[in-house]
Amino acid sequence: MIASPLSTTVHAAGAAFDRLAPVYDDKFTETLIGRAQRNSVWKVLLETFRPGDSILELNCGTGEDALFLAQHGISVLSCDASQEMITHAEQRLKAQPVPLSVVFCHLPTERINEFAPARRFDGVFSNFSGLNCIEDLAPVAASLAPLVKDGDRLLLCFSTRVCLTEIFYYLALGQKKKALRRLSGHTQATIDGVSLDVYYPSLKQILRSFSPHFRLSSTTGIGVAVPPSYLEPWARNHPTAFRLLCRLESFLARVPLLRTTGDHVLLCFEKVSQ
Ligand SMILES: C[S@@+](CC[C@H](N)C(=O)[O-])C[C@H]1O[C@@H](n2cnc3c(N)ncnc32)[C@H](O)[C@@H]1O
Repeated sequence: MIASPLSTTVHAAGAAFDRLAPVYDDKFTETLIGRAQRNSVWKVLLETFRPGDSILELNCGTGEDALFLAQHGISVLSCDASQEMITHAEQRLKAQPVPLSVVFCHLPTERINEFAPARRFDGVFSNFSGLNCIEDLAPVAASLAPLVKDGDRLLLCFSTRVCLTEIFYYLALGQKKKALRRLSGHTQATIDGVSLDVYYPSLKQILRSFSPHFRLSSTTGIGVAVPPSYLEPWARNHPTAFRLLCRLESFLARVPLLRTTGDHVLLCFEKVSQ
């Protein structure tokens, strides 16, 4: 299916996430906030794809969404730049009580054009900011276009450029630099001593990158009322307030303007005929 074997060149984001892989599920997937934000994504995911569909998943991490999709009758080919994430995902797949239609593949999104699938996918999915690790999204959009049919959908979840909760939270702590860190569109994060470039494209920039091949069909806020995951200790200490925010989330997630000022935004694109 892939034209050439994966090059031995180290992928910077992949190497950084290799460090996070062993603790990623504890630090995010299994947290109250991680679960709440993912549940919001899953709701849209099941509205977008149907049993019998075959989906390409980008930056799959430890495979949480791939397993969920497969449990709902959707076949998944899931890729990630981190070998450790893929190894972890494969172990989770093997531990499933029933066989699931998932294949995990160590492949960075920048090399997705090397896919030569026997038939086209019914859609593409990317969750929780894997695409924020890529500076130029236009080549990614161009590589995805031939992999799906006209009218098929891409469901892509980005970290936003403006996260109001983050701005207010860090300003309240007097940490102006952290409060405004996303606004420049680029930061350098460090995972366990390994640095990683993270990009925060504006909605306009994302649309421009995808527009030659795809048109935006819906926008859902993720983490608009529910806070970013670093507020997990607060969520655990304030269960009633957190439950209230979870209830507010489904309403705020659809409010124009507000829906793009949460922690993440989930964009649904439709392939246009060319
Ligand atoms: C925050 S994690 C999200 C993982 C998963 N999608 C989830 O929902 O839990 C970001 C993932 O993107 C992957 N990633 C980052 N840059 C990538 C790239 N250029 N190509 C493929 N995967 C990438 C990382 O290895 C990591 O697994």
